[in-house]
Amino acid sequence: MTDAGTATIDPALFRETLGHYPTGVAVVTAVSETGIPEGMVVGTFTSVSLDPPLIAFFPAKGSRSFARFRDAATFCINVLAADQEPLCRRLATGGAAKFDGVRWRPGPLGSPVLDGAVSWIECTFEDVREAGDHYIVLGRVQELGVARSTLPLLFFQGGYGKFSTGSFIAAPDPELIQAAQLAETIRSEVEDLSAAFAVGCSVLVKIGSDAVQVLTASGGRASETVPLGHRQPIIPPLGAVFMANAAPSEIEGWLQRAPDNSRDRRTLHGRLLDVVRNRGYSLLAAEPELLRRHQAVLTEFERSDRLPRQERDVRQATADLVDLFCPDLVAGRRYDLASIVVPVPTTADLPPMALRMTGMPKSAPTEQVETWIRGLRRVAAAPAMVGTSG
Ligand SMILES: Cc1cc2nc3c(=O)[nH]c(=O)nc-3n(C[C@H](O)[C@H](O)[C@H](O)COP(=O)(O)O)c2cc1C
Repeated sequence: MTDAGTATIDPALFRETLGHYPTGVAVVTAVSETGIPEGMVVGTFTSVSLDPPLIAFFPAKGSRSFARFRDAATFCINVLAADQEPLCRRLATGGAAKFDGVRWRPGPLGSPVLDGAVSWIECTFEDVREAGDHYIVLGRVQELGVARSTLPLLFFQGGYGKFSTGSFIAAPDPELIQAAQLAETIRSEVEDLSAAFAVGCSVLVKIGSDAVQVLTASGGRASETVPLGHRQPIIPPLGAVFMANAAPSEIEGWLQRAPDNSRDRRTLHGRLLDVVRNRGYSLLAAEPELLRRHQAVLTEFERSDRLPRQERDVRQATADLVDLFCPDLVAGRRYDLASIVVPVPTTADLPPMALRMTGMPKSAPTEQVETWIRGLRRVAAAPAMVGTSG
């Protein structure tokens, strides 16, 4: 039996095993007692307590940087951004002059806040304890802020990287190119349909959990077009057309992308999926404020680093469209529609595709909506779409 207190651990195994745990990367900065700014890179920064507000980091006992600033009045934790790897490498070296030329400004308590860092947390020393070959430094948070809401730098298995959301990862591009080539074969039909009704028509392909626009015709309404290559995460209730013939595991993935995965919501989304399956198309009613908000968060998501916070906004704004999804078509009524989507039958080796109509005139009578749906179905069933992949 091993005595738990005296077990010897192979240092290489210790490093290898612990290296499988990813960390963020922060620079602890301070102005030393002699007035010189100092900084050291740590992967051990952690939040400890909210009340009172405490954080910690663990400097090695042999750290010369820490020795130079451990008697400073305050210190600052700077969370590095993904694009600050060069700065990280520089400050992780041992030279006394490593801080020369680094751009910073004084925080409210005077310790260096690094230019370009994601966030900064200025602290006073609460406690410094010994822990093996390291110290545990407890800092009491005095001032803090997010300077730049962007992806942080991560450290894992000795390498640097950045965070990517697991849920909306795009699949490789060969599928996309194949789908774009296929869509190209019905370009003239899509353009004719778009021109005939003076509406926008686009071909969408499901790549991973995104719907990607691979062909678009504006029907003369330039302002309505969504750019080619536009990616929209498929979140319930949207994307039901892609799910109509999907495997149960894929439908489950779709259901789980909803911000609310409660039983009631799952039942509602399942019912909407059945409606789309039975009808063979989906409708989205127009409600300008909800659609404007949905478009705004999508645009922000697409133009940025796809941050988790923005991903949550996209999920929520999409979920908020649920009451607009698939209204019943009743004779004698008029409809303000944002979109109509029909599936495009493709062979099994191709990703699912769909045809979407947008920019329709308001207050359309039921017969007009049915005419649009028939037009979309005719193009979707164009012979060129099926069997061209072999
Ligand atoms: C990603 C990364 C994380 C690190 N984390 C720590 C840490 O938590 N504690 C520590 O003492 N050194 C850590 N280091 C090492 C120091 O940043 C750096 O090598 C050291 O401060 C330079 O030597 P000096 O302190 O003697 O000047 C880390 C280095 C890197 C690259």
